[in-house]
Amino acid sequence: KLKRRLKNLLIVTVVGVGSFYSYRAYRSYKWSKEVSESDSITGTKPRIVVLGTGWGAVPLLKHIDTQKYEVVCVSPRNYFLMTPLLPSVSVGTVETRTVIESIRSLVGPKIKYVEAHCVDVDTKTKVITCNSDGTNTVSRGDDVKTLLEPSKRAGGASSRIIKDSARTRPQFDMKYDILVVAVGSENNTFNIPGVEEHAHFLKELLDARRIRSAISDAFESAMTPSQTAEERKRLLHFVIVGGGPTGVEFAAELADFVREDLQYYFPRLVANDVKITLIEALDHVLSMMDKQISDYTEKHFRRENIDVLMNTFVKSIKQREVVVQFKGSNELTSIPCSVVVWATGIKARPITNRIREIIGLKAQSNRMGILTDRYLRAKGVTDGSIYAIGDCATIEQPKLVDQIQTLFEEADTQRKGALDLQQFKALVERKIHDFPQLEIFSKTIEKTFEEADKEKSGFLTLATLHSALEKADKKIRALPATAQVAAQEGRYIADLLNQVTDLKSSDYQQQNLQSFRYKHMGALAYVGGDSAVLDFSGTKPIFDLFNLQPLSGRSAAYLWKSFYFTEMFTGRTKTLLAFDWVRTRLYGRDISRY
Ligand code: FAD
Ligand code: NAI
Repeated sequence: KLKRRLKNLLIVTVVGVGSFYSYRAYRSYKWSKEVSESDSITGTKPRIVVLGTGWGAVPLLKHIDTQKYEVVCVSPRNYFLMTPLLPSVSVGTVETRTVIESIRSLVGPKIKYVEAHCVDVDTKTKVITCNSDGTNTVSRGDDVKTLLEPSKRAGGASSRIIKDSARTRPQFDMKYDILVVAVGSENNTFNIPGVEEHAHFLKELLDARRIRSAISDAFESAMTPSQTAEERKRLLHFVIVGGGPTGVEFAAELADFVREDLQYYFPRLVANDVKITLIEALDHVLSMMDKQISDYTEKHFRRENIDVLMNTFVKSIKQREVVVQFKGSNELTSIPCSVVVWATGIKARPITNRIREIIGLKAQSNRMGILTDRYLRAKGVTDGSIYAIGDCATIEQPKLVDQIQTLFEEADTQRKGALDLQQFKALVERKIHDFPQLEIFSKTIEKTFEEADKEKSGFLTLATLHSALEKADKKIRALPATAQVAAQEGRYIADLLNQVTDLKSSDYQQQNLQSFRYKHMGALAYVGGDSAVLDFSGTKPIFDLFNLQPLSGRSAAYLWKSFYFTEMFTGRTKTLLAFDWVRTRLYGRDISRY
C-alpha cells in the first residue's frame, strides 16, 4: 500500500514539475516571439502612450488590445507599488520586495516600457518630452525650465538612479496618437513651514523604508547611556499628522510594532517613554467613513495607547517639535517629538498642472486634477486624444441646481408643489444616474434633505429644494482618490479603446460606447490589534441587498487581509505576502537598521 502511494506521489510530482517547466518554456517562447514582433513595429498602428505604472495604468496596460495599438508606457518607477501595504512596510510587518512587481513582468514584452519622467506635452504636435536621467527638468537649448520640483520623493524612482557617465540617458521626445495620463498625485503640505524638511511622507516605497529606519534610529538613540529622561521621551514620541486612512493605518501598524516587538527588546523604554500621537484638524478621524466607524476607531486607539488629538491644527514643524493650535484658541503649543509622519492628503503633481495649463485653464478650471468628461477624456482637447485617470483626474459633474425647474416638475408627479424624501431621492438618483459616483452619495442625499427641511415637515418646496440642490452639488464632487477608482478607470479605458471603431470621431455616443460608471465596493482600513474597519455605505445596490452594516474588529481584519491578498497581482507577491505574515507572527519583525 505504501509502495503504491509513493508511486502515485512520484507520478504527481513528476507531472507537476514537468507541467511547470513546460509552461515556463512555452512562455519564454511566446515572449520571444512577441518581443521580435514589438521590435519590428513599423508605426502602422495608432500609438497609445500611458504615463505611469500605478493603480490606474496597470489594469489599462494589462487589458489593452496590442493587436490594435502600439502601446508605450513611460514612468520613472519601473514597478507597480501595492500602496495599501505601505504602512505595513514602514514597520517591517511586510518586506519591501513583497509590495512591488516589475512592470515588465506584469505587462509582458508586447508593451514597451521606458523609465522616464514626462516633463512636457505639446498637444498640437502630439508629442511628449521626457527626462530619463531621473531629473524633473526640461531643457530646450539654452532654455532650462524647472517644471517639477526637484523633490527626492517625486515619482519614487528619482533618488535611486545613480548618475554616472557610463549610463547617460538623454532627454527624448515621443509622438502619441492617444495619451493616457495616470501620474497619480503628491503629498499636500499646504505650504506649512518645516514639513518638507522635517517630516516623513508615506507615499512611495522609499518613504516607508526611511520611516522604518527612523523608528529604529529613535530607539537606538534613546538607549545611549548619557541620554536625559526628557530627551528620551522626546526621542520616543512619534507624531502622525492627519487622521485620514493613511495616518490611521500607520498609527495602527506602529502601535502593533511597539506592542508585539519593541516591548520585548526595550521593555523599560516602552513602559516609560514611548508615546504615539495622532493629530487631526477635524472633530473625528476617518471623516470620509461612516460615523460609527470613526467612533469605533477613536475608542480602539485609546485601548491601543494611541493619543488622538482632535480639533488640532498643525501650524509648523521644527526639528525637535510640532507646533499646534487647538480649535478655539489663539495660542500655539509646542509638542516635543522626533519622528513625524505627515499624512494630510494629496494634491496635483506639477506635470498634471502643466498639462492643465497647456490645454487651457478655462476648460481645465479644477485645481484638483485634469478635468475630464464621462468618457475620461480631458476637457478642452478637441480631438479627444488625451485621457486622464486615477488621482490626477477629476470627472466633470453637471450641476443639479442648474436644472432645478425641470427636475422639480419631473419629480412632482402628483403636482403637490412639494416633494417628500422618497421623491427627492428618486429625483437626485435619476438625475445623477449617469454620474460615475452615484452610490457613494445616497447617505449625502438623505442628509441634504434633512438639512433643507428645517421645519421638519417631511416635504421640500421649490424654494427649499434650491438650497438643497446647491448643497448637494457641492458635496457630489469628485470621486475619492483611491486605488479602487483608479483601477476601475484604467480597466474602463482599455475596454473603451478596444471597442472604439473610429478614433477620429469624438462622438462616442454615436459609436454606442458606454460612459464610465464607478462601482463602489466599500472602504477598508486596518486599525491595529488585529482589527480593521469596513464601511459598506454607498455600495448600493450590491451590498444593500444584504443590508450590511459597517464592520469592525477581527472579522473585518480577516476580510482586510483576504482582500489585499487576492488583490496582489501575481503568484510571486502573493507567496511573499503569505510568508511575511507568517514570519511576523512566528518570529516578529526585524528591528535592524539598514
Ligand atoms: P499611482 O498609483 O500613484 O501611480 C502614479 C504613477 O505615475 C507612478 O508609477 C509614478 O511613478 C508615475 N509618475 C509620476 N510622475 C510621472 C511623470 N512625470 N511621468 C510619468 N509617470 C509619472 N486606495 C485604496 O483604494 N485602498 C487602500 O487601501 C489604499 N491605501 C493607501 C495607502 C497609502 C499609504 C497610500 C499613500 C495610498 C493608498 N490608497 C489606497 C490610495 C491609492 O494608492 C491611490 O489612490 C492610487 O495609487 C492612485 O492610482 P494612480 O494610478 O492614479 O497613481
Ligand atoms: P485624507 O485627505 O484622507 O486625510 C487627511 C486628514 O488630514 C484630513 O482628515 C484632514 O482634516 C487632516 N489635516 C489636514 N491638514 C491638517 C493639519 N495641518 N493638521 C492636522 N490635520 C490636518 O489623506 P490621506 O489619509 O493621506 O489619504 C489620501 C488619499 O488616499 C485619500 O483619498 C484616501 O481615501 C486614500 N487612501 C485610502 C486608504 C484606504 O482606503 N484604506 C488608505 C490610505 C489612503
